Amino acid sequence: MNTQTETRPAATTPYDRLGGKATIEAIADRFYDLMDSDPAFAELRAMHAADLAPMRASLAGFLTGWSGGPRDWFEANPGRCMMSIHRPLPIDADTARQWIVAMRRAIDEIVTD
Ligand code: HEM
Repeated sequence: MNTQTETRPAATTPYDRLGGKATIEAIADRFYDLMDSDPAFAELRAMHAADLAPMRASLAGFLTGWSGGPRDWFEANPGRCMMSIHRPLPIDADTARQWIVAMRRAIDEIVTD
């Protein structure tokens, strides 16, 4: 009998460890709030539509499934590829860096433990 298997704690996903839906939504909201308010992200903001509400929902949905939570975004967007979505966009090294810096800041502010 494999007692090690029986005593091992239930596997958790990054989604669960982060705090689930509330945390993922807070990260996506903070990310777009920063993009919308900090001039350091002006070029990145200019690439996005005036109304960021659809992006907030889409990014949170994608990150939820990607991190191991409910896969509603992937089921609603069968075959939708993140690389293909971005391929036609005029992303350069500077706007890519702005995305990473904004996301890093959002995560640092929201995920405190
Ligand atoms: C390399 C830096 C990136 C830049 C400059 C960038 C920029 C953009 C832009 C301009 C849009 C379209 C916005 C609009 O139509 O208003 C978009 C859509 C999106 N991006 Fe990015 N992005 C980047 C990286 C990422 C990464 C790493 C992820 C995932 C972790 C991501 C997730 C998304 C999602 C989920 C959408 C919405 C797709 C949809 O629902 O159609 N992006 N991005």
